[in-house]
Amino acid sequence: MEIPSLKIGDMLVRYPIIQGGMAVSVSTAELATAVADEGGIGVIGATGMNMDNLRSQMREARAATKGLLGLNVMVAAREFKESVLVALKEKVDVVIAGAGFSRDIFTICKEWKTPVITMVASAKVARLSERLGASAVIVEGCDAGGHLGTEEHTTDLLPAICEAVSIPVIAAGGFADGSDIGRMLELGAAGVQMGTRFLLSDECTVHKNFKDLLINAKASDLVRIMSPVGLPANAIRTPLVAKYLAQDSSIKPTSCDACLKKCGKQFCILEALTAARNGDYEHGLFFTGKRFADITSVEPVKKIFVDLLADAQAYLNRTLEKSAPVGS
Ligand SMILES: Cc1cc2nc3c(=O)[nH]c(=O)nc-3n(C[C@H](O)[C@H](O)[C@H](O)COP(=O)(O)O)c2cc1C
Repeated sequence: MEIPSLKIGDMLVRYPIIQGGMAVSVSTAELATAVADEGGIGVIGATGMNMDNLRSQMREARAATKGLLGLNVMVAAREFKESVLVALKEKVDVVIAGAGFSRDIFTICKEWKTPVITMVASAKVARLSERLGASAVIVEGCDAGGHLGTEEHTTDLLPAICEAVSIPVIAAGGFADGSDIGRMLELGAAGVQMGTRFLLSDECTVHKNFKDLLINAKASDLVRIMSPVGLPANAIRTPLVAKYLAQDSSIKPTSCDACLKKCGKQFCILEALTAARNGDYEHGLFFTGKRFADITSVEPVKKIFVDLLADAQAYLNRTLEKSAPVGS
């Protein structure tokens, strides 16, 4: 089996790899462009960007690549509709909606003839997405970076969701290398979305301290916390996480600009993620996928693609050899 292209609506993605959108300017134009240039979908994370910033990121990326660009929005964010409209006006190729569910997004994107992909964690929501007009769904399990919609693993969710819908199903969460891609394709996924692997790239513009923290941390440094958004997330145990787990009230926000529709306000998630982005170990909340410890170096996106594709192909070839009749 050759690594297939990925068809989403009328759009053909050369390689079935989506770079996960990452909030608070973790995935910006530079990373999205590099991924799009390699034949995947490069995604700008809208959450935490003001509209001017988002517009200029979209323009910068659109001018720099002929490849495919996506926008990731968190439905839980107050400004999510505005972000979608800004990106559509800047000719984004696809809109990916996570952290909540919105029917409006289908209506808006239909008017602009732009495909929508929804992040799902159950066959029921996958089916609803297809019925409302989604061009694909992303199944994200509990090993992913970012906010989580389930405690189940992607591999456990994938078969039922592939069975439930006839649109492409993309697997996400806890993938570090090309053999993971091969495994997901074999299980019926049409492609994969990877976040942490691309955070640990030269083109990701987060502070070096964020990348160094992930490269040097051990798998046992990972904790599952309940974010103020009301959803669980995987993060590295840092001073802020320790204070939060100890219910230290000194981390409660002193001011709030209501960036979320609902917030528990145990601490300011926007400030904590921004601090992480800026490399502030003391005050940052460092989200990561569970497999971060299997990624041992920060590399250019070009090399990441070469390795992912070679390892995915090798995995698929091995599987083919195993299934060939003896003596053939
Ligand atoms: C720092 C960080 C921020 C993220 N922000 C978002 C986000 O804003 N919206 C979203 O849908 N997913 C977000 N994600 C999830 C990624 O898009 C991707 O689906 C996930 O990281 C896949 O798991 P992996 O990191 O194990 O590859 C984020 C992930 C990370 C690591």
